[in-house]
Amino acid sequence: MRIIKYGALTVAGLLLAAGCGQTPEKKARTAGEKQGGTAAAGKAASAPPARKPESPKPPPPRVVDCVKLKCVALTFDDGPGPYTERLLNTLHAAGARATFFMLGENVRSHEGTVRRMALEGHELANHSWDHPSLTSLSAAGVRSQVQRTQEAIAKASGGVRPTLLRPPYGATNTQVGRAAALPEILWSVDTEDWRYRNVARDTRVGINEPKSGGIVLYHDIHKPSVDSIPKVLEGLKRRGFTFVTVSELFRSQPLKPGKTYTDLAPPKPVKAPTPSAPPSGAPSAPATPGSPTPGPVSPTPGLPLPGTPTVPGTPTVPGVPGTPGVPGVPGVPGTPTPPGR
Ligand code: NI
Repeated sequence: MRIIKYGALTVAGLLLAAGCGQTPEKKARTAGEKQGGTAAAGKAASAPPARKPESPKPPPPRVVDCVKLKCVALTFDDGPGPYTERLLNTLHAAGARATFFMLGENVRSHEGTVRRMALEGHELANHSWDHPSLTSLSAAGVRSQVQRTQEAIAKASGGVRPTLLRPPYGATNTQVGRAAALPEILWSVDTEDWRYRNVARDTRVGINEPKSGGIVLYHDIHKPSVDSIPKVLEGLKRRGFTFVTVSELFRSQPLKPGKTYTDLAPPKPVKAPTPSAPPSGAPSAPATPGSPTPGPVSPTPGLPLPGTPTVPGTPTVPGVPGTPGVPGVPGVPGTPTPPGR
């Protein structure tokens, strides 16, 4: 008897609880949880989207006219590593942007560093997953090296997908180009920092060798390289250089998947006639790939950076009027000068 009464009370209590003990939201959530995947999807659609905390976004690309200014792109390969944060401090203090060609396998263990790079305006770029010579791989192997790294960088950075590849050892061929399907960025100054590991040498080469439009190769996994950068930045500033990312460097010259680039080069003299004739649609297989393209250029392949609007004033002019070695003198168009390699 007592037992029955108790049972009835309990049932009443449960009914009450079910009817008004929970806020509607809570009920919905509970129901969703209990029903598992099937009904949950439908519910989720009507529920307000789960708001992720607003995460900071990388700054937009700067509009730097490297056809007129004396620009240099410092690039750092094989990281991130134990010295990369310190390098970021140095770059930050100098207001300099750089490009990091990273290995996917190192990205995983330095996600915070990669995120910081993005937020500080550096360019995140792909250097394969674990540094094989891509020319020794099948097309599928190349794709895998590139894609895994793309994913790792996007995940670490909060959505930034690299648009540039530097093939390890600079080793590439047509198959690699086709499979990787990204512009391939080599360099015009090889500091050989990996070989000498000597701060004085890294500093000297880094200051003296770059020419306007140049791309300088360092490795941020080596301590002497990172140690040399404060002086290198000072020295290059003194020479009148502006530090840009690779994509900023090529703003006037859209980069094409499968082509290789070593610097913002003037076109081959043959290709650089000034005549008034508009570029006829025959950019024959140029030795310097990706050179002049019609002015109103289609946006560069989707950098996460908002799409590279064609900026007025930036030329259809092919050449980089480099005016090398004469600091401070703005480029005189039509003086194509062979950039250092
Ligand atoms: Ni490398």
